[in-house]
Amino acid sequence: MSDFDASKLTQLEQYKLLIGTVTPRPIALVTTLGKTGPNAAPFSFFNAVGSDPAMLCFSVGNKQSGAKDTVENIRECPEFVVHIVSDAIKDQMNVCAVDYARGVNELEKAGFTAVPSKVVRPPRIKEAPVAMECKLVQIIELGRRPNHLVIGEVVWFHYDDGLVNDRYHVDVGRVNPIGRLAGKGGYTRITDRFEMPRLPGGSPE
Ligand SMILES: Cc1cc2nc3c(=O)[nH]c(=O)nc-3n(C[C@H](O)[C@H](O)[C@H](O)COP(=O)(O)O)c2cc1C
Repeated sequence: MSDFDASKLTQLEQYKLLIGTVTPRPIALVTTLGKTGPNAAPFSFFNAVGSDPAMLCFSVGNKQSGAKDTVENIRECPEFVVHIVSDAIKDQMNVCAVDYARGVNELEKAGFTAVPSKVVRPPRIKEAPVAMECKLVQIIELGRRPNHLVIGEVVWFHYDDGLVNDRYHVDVGRVNPIGRLAGKGGYTRITDRFEMPRLPGGSPE
């Protein structure tokens, strides 16, 4: 058995254990808008955290020089769009993770098409099968590094045709999201799915 006292580990050691342990992680491709223009970046410290209203969160670490452009932009314009990273847009997502200087438009670098959002100012990525327009609820500063936990309320859901039915069931297979594993290039697809019905008495998730 391997066990570790977290207080004796460096930040990097804790990070490596976390990203190898909390897997697979969904990936949010987040567009924002700041004084220097639009920005897109992926974040796998990401999940849904509420449904009345619908809320999402993702967590952004700092880079050497300070806050990443995504956080700077959300401080300037407290709105963003979260796109689910599907297999079809994974290579473009990867381009958006390059540490470009502030003001470089990753959407253009990646060859994405930016289209106006319905109710928020940052653009939406046309090629993404699902996009959720969000208004900032809160940024919580976490830890010594620090991480910026961004919580947003979803104000508009977009789905490509045929992805959601009239009972609001999303066809996950057609969305075809990828998940992040550990390491420099570890990802997974959802090609080995199975169903496990809930037992009687199970409470809603
Ligand atoms: C799949 C993937 C997931 C990532 N997840 C995170 C994350 O959860 N938090 C984070 O701070 N950076 C994450 N990154 C790195 C950022 O995307 C990267 O630092 C990016 O340049 C930030 O862009 P920005 O400065 O334009 O905001 C991830 C990168 C990839 C490729």
